[in-house]
Amino acid sequence: PSPSVQSLSRMLAGAERVVAFTGAGISTESGIPDFRSPGGIWTRYDPRDFTFDRYVADPEVRANSWAMRRAFFATHARPNAAHQALVELEVAGRLAGVVTQNIDGLHQEAGSRHVIEIHGTAREITCIGALPVDGAPDGCGFTAPHTWALEQIDAGVEDPRCPDCGGLVKSATISFGQQMPLDAVRRAQAEVAACDLLLVVGSSLQVYPAAALPGEARQHGAQVVIVNDEPTDLDGLAHLVVRGRAGEVLTAAVAGIGSDTLG
Ligand code: NAD
Ligand code: APR
Repeated sequence: PSPSVQSLSRMLAGAERVVAFTGAGISTESGIPDFRSPGGIWTRYDPRDFTFDRYVADPEVRANSWAMRRAFFATHARPNAAHQALVELEVAGRLAGVVTQNIDGLHQEAGSRHVIEIHGTAREITCIGALPVDGAPDGCGFTAPHTWALEQIDAGVEDPRCPDCGGLVKSATISFGQQMPLDAVRRAQAEVAACDLLLVVGSSLQVYPAAALPGEARQHGAQVVIVNDEPTDLDGLAHLVVRGRAGEVLTAAVAGIGSDTLG
């Protein structure tokens, strides 16, 4: 393995409490496009068409989002080696948790038990109320699996509504202009403040407040490692940058922990 992968093995072996912070790049090897790489979502769609306010105002945006959600799940994406390597670290008692920007649920499907989804999840839908404004849904609390909405549409209900209050329903993901889930953000900040190694994987670190987490880890004295196949905005903040594919790098780094302690 490369010197930087060997360094990552050494840092993982020496850490007491690792937290992983992941972005779309950890799921591309599962066939899910990320946002800003060539072919990524925002190279094909205009993010301004996917804001929370547009979703609330325009039934066509809602229909388009449901169609993309259907396409998203039609990929039947499965966890990849990178997700699996994080599960191994958790099973070995080294990884305290995963903070993810992803909505695909692949960390949980791989077996990760402590996952904080700061951008929500596509696996659920929630009621966002009759007149949600300023990104603050005032839903009645109704939630259902994402399949519920697709079944409504298949049954001819073009613009599914909340069965309890008649309000709008939306994928439980956080779109631009939508408030972040405060509880998840608080729990993520607490995990990052308590870790001694933050392992950032597959994020361009361009979207805040998520991208503030590596800086918060450093402020609390943690080491920061960034694994990414392209330079990120915060490489200068990291103690170690490993340039490469997440699946290959994490698999080799975790495998190297044993040999390292022997060495
Ligand atoms: P959104 O409403 O801001 O719009 C994004 C649109 O792109 C949605 O219609 C969504 O269905 C679609 N989309 C998102 N990721 C897609 C993918 N990988 N393949 C095909 N279509 C995709 O928000 P959204 O639906 O909530 O999606 C944005 C969220 O998706 C972000 O919060 C981001 O964290 C997440 N994301 C996750 C992954 C992943 O889980 N692997 C990959 C990219 C983006
Ligand atoms: N291995 C390593 N790095 C990868 C891989 C891979 N297999 N695939 C992609 N990458 C890298 C890309 O080079 C890119 O720098 O992962 C990064 C993914 O960055 P983005 O596409 O910007 O995704 P992300 O950082 O998760 O986006 C953050 O932006 O649109 C919003 O809410 C959305 O959560 C999303 C947020």
